[in-house]
Amino acid sequence: MFELIYMSAASPTMTSAKARDIAEQSQMNNALADISGVLVFDGTSFAQILEGDESAVRRLLDIISADKRHSNLTVLVEGPTSGRSFAGWSMAYNDTGSMAQLLDRVADINAARSRSNGEELKRALDKLKSDVLGSLRGK
Ligand SMILES: Cc1cc2nc3c(=O)[nH]c(=O)nc-3n(C[C@H](O)[C@H](O)[C@H](O)COP(=O)(O)O)c2cc1C
Repeated sequence: MFELIYMSAASPTMTSAKARDIAEQSQMNNALADISGVLVFDGTSFAQILEGDESAVRRLLDIISADKRHSNLTVLVEGPTSGRSFAGWSMAYNDTGSMAQLLDRVADINAARSRSNGEELKRALDKLKSDVLGSLRGK
């Protein structure tokens, strides 16, 4: 299993309703490609967690990268993972969480990765996901 987290700048005309539509319309494609994850939108930026086979995730990322509804796509985290965190969500949607908090978690993840501290990395990844999952479940 492989996971990738990116962030991008939403186009100026993006709205929560449109972002939710993107997530809903992604569900069929993602289910067919055995990809799961979550799309986070805060009114300005997107963050998305994609998990699945590395080749399938990269193929999807190529498609998403070309989408004009956002720009400046930056991969924040990528690498192997022991299992799915979003099993059952071919693409969940969340616009209730805090992007700043998510970015703090990403910083923790990348710091752990740069120190090659596997335990710390796992904790930081788990924390990010439990934050995102927590606000999904809290709806
Ligand atoms: C922020 C963002 C996230 C997206 N996430 C996905 C996704 O997870 N899965 C997907 O199939 N398309 C996603 N899309 C849409 C793709 O860019 C593309 O429009 C879509 O895959 C085309 O699907 P279609 O060939 O069925 O029309 C996303 C688009 C944006 C702007």
